[in-house]
Amino acid sequence: MKLKREAPEMTERKLNPFRDPLSNGRDDPENALIESIVHFDNQEVCLRGWVQNLRSSGKVAFLQLRDGTGVIQCVASPKDVGEEVFSKIRGLSLETSVVLRGLVKKDDRSKIGFELVLSQLEVLHSTVDYPIGKKEHGVAFLMQHRHLWLRSSKQVALMRLRAELIKAIRDYFDSKAFRLVDSPILTPNACEGTSTLFETPYFDSVAYLTQSGQLYAEASALACGKVYCFGPTFRAEKSKTRRHLAEFWMVEPEVAFMDLQGDMDLAEDFIESIVQRCVQNCPHELATLERSVSALEKIKKPFPRIRYEEAIEILIKKKFPVKFGDDFGGDEETAISEEFDRPVIIHRYPKSIKAFYMREDPEDDRLALCMDVIAPEGVGEIIGGSERESDLSVLEKKIQEHNLSKDAFEWYLDLRRFGSVPHSGFGLGLERTLGWIAGVPHVRECVPFPRMMDKIWP
Ligand code: 4AD
Ligand code: MG
Repeated sequence: MKLKREAPEMTERKLNPFRDPLSNGRDDPENALIESIVHFDNQEVCLRGWVQNLRSSGKVAFLQLRDGTGVIQCVASPKDVGEEVFSKIRGLSLETSVVLRGLVKKDDRSKIGFELVLSQLEVLHSTVDYPIGKKEHGVAFLMQHRHLWLRSSKQVALMRLRAELIKAIRDYFDSKAFRLVDSPILTPNACEGTSTLFETPYFDSVAYLTQSGQLYAEASALACGKVYCFGPTFRAEKSKTRRHLAEFWMVEPEVAFMDLQGDMDLAEDFIESIVQRCVQNCPHELATLERSVSALEKIKKPFPRIRYEEAIEILIKKKFPVKFGDDFGGDEETAISEEFDRPVIIHRYPKSIKAFYMREDPEDDRLALCMDVIAPEGVGEIIGGSERESDLSVLEKKIQEHNLSKDAFEWYLDLRRFGSVPHSGFGLGLERTLGWIAGVPHVRECVPFPRMMDKIWP
């Protein structure tokens, strides 16, 4: 069907800068979104967004419009928009905000398969000297302008992928009869050691920002059976690495009546599911990020599982100076992960390097019934988990050995006083997982506004 184009004098009416927030962007041409442009082939649509790029040659101008869901090339010529608007378009500066109208046309050369033949354009706010240009900027400069850097194509793709990953995580647990039970952010006690606690005044006393929702998830699991919590967690990490944030998101399933074996089965199935969901639902985002999808398609269970002591043997063969009892850092994890093309699960670390709540291996009292999942391609640990100590007296002893205050943990000990059951769980770091899926090496780009040791701006 060929649509009648409006005559120039008819287009004098003002374009509506306001979007109908109830529109899904697919059904109503007045509220179209670029990601859904395929639904408007050969129709006139109204789009609202920002000028991402502009080039013009004589009697035609090509404007790249970004609306947050995608980018579309808009073609303008004086015969369609009139001389006055045409010369205004040629003078548009980057990140100027506009409302425009045009005809959606199939175009095989376009990445999204369509372009827009402009008929009308109005400027909402004209930008002067946008600080982020086409030239390469250093990371320090971009981080300082994170609030603007977020608008660039790769950063938008990352945030869209992050949203899909979060949805995939929730859908996975919701579909497997887990209940979402949130843990608090302000807590009276440490979960992952006392060296990375953020302390904050709390009325007449002090509180700590949570390092992990686990201890509360354990209480929730004894109330609801299979649960997960998912929220921000905080660590005063005094290391500047590409894997450490001071504020990061963690999803933590916790299951009553589950052992370490079940914990590993769950982690493996979960990772396969969320990675494949991103591959399936985010092809454009992954293409924008230039991420090799074939590496991600390989992420299918079963994942290799090795004992800590086997990991030590791999490292010794690779000439690392390690011995039983040493913890692994980024280099060690990378060296181990190079042996495999999918995530590797390392289980049964020495209990001396692990947290107080982990159950001791009944077959070897030097070890804890715990596991880490190490992602390939040098990403390193994305999951840490364990079976929990469920015996009251053993746990009391552990709290003492770790120099933790028993008073702060009285409530947690109640879980072992009243109907204690074997239970296990793990925590997956969202930003490290996103970095792996996106092929982005540094976690600072995997959260909209990163918080790190030397960074709390913007
Ligand atoms: O191994 P971690 O410390 O385990 C726990 O916190 C357990 N309480 C979880 C549980 O069993 N419920 O942390 C879990 C994951 C790590 O594997 C990593 O992916 C992520 O959280 N993580 C960080 N991500 C970014 N920046 C940091 N500073 C992180 N610390 C941990
Ligand atoms: Mg860990």
